Amino acid sequence: MGSFVHVADLSDIPPGTAKVVAVQRIEVALFNLEGSIYAIDNMCQHAGGPLGEGKIKGGVVICPWHGYRYHIKTGQYVKNPDMSVACYQVKVEDGKISVSVTP
Ligand code: FES
Repeated sequence: MGSFVHVADLSDIPPGTAKVVAVQRIEVALFNLEGSIYAIDNMCQHAGGPLGEGKIKGGVVICPWHGYRYHIKTGQYVKNPDMSVACYQVKVEDGKISVSVTP
């Protein structure tokens, strides 16, 4: 179990929105899907687009640069799982969101 770092408050990310935070120099995109928080790497595997600024459609985020789609819960690229972005562990306690970027 990795070490968790407090990155945001639940109130910062209303359902259906996202926020980009830095954890140990890694940019992490946090998403609120119907009240549950998920964390994936912010950097699109195609050309580094900021996934945390992408449009959220269902459980998928669409990269704002060229439209690659990733499953928010897993980081899996919709068309090719070999191009997945990292997915990080999240904890929410007392309205505080913590993320671990280490396995
Ligand atoms: S950088 Fe994300 S689709 Fe091109």
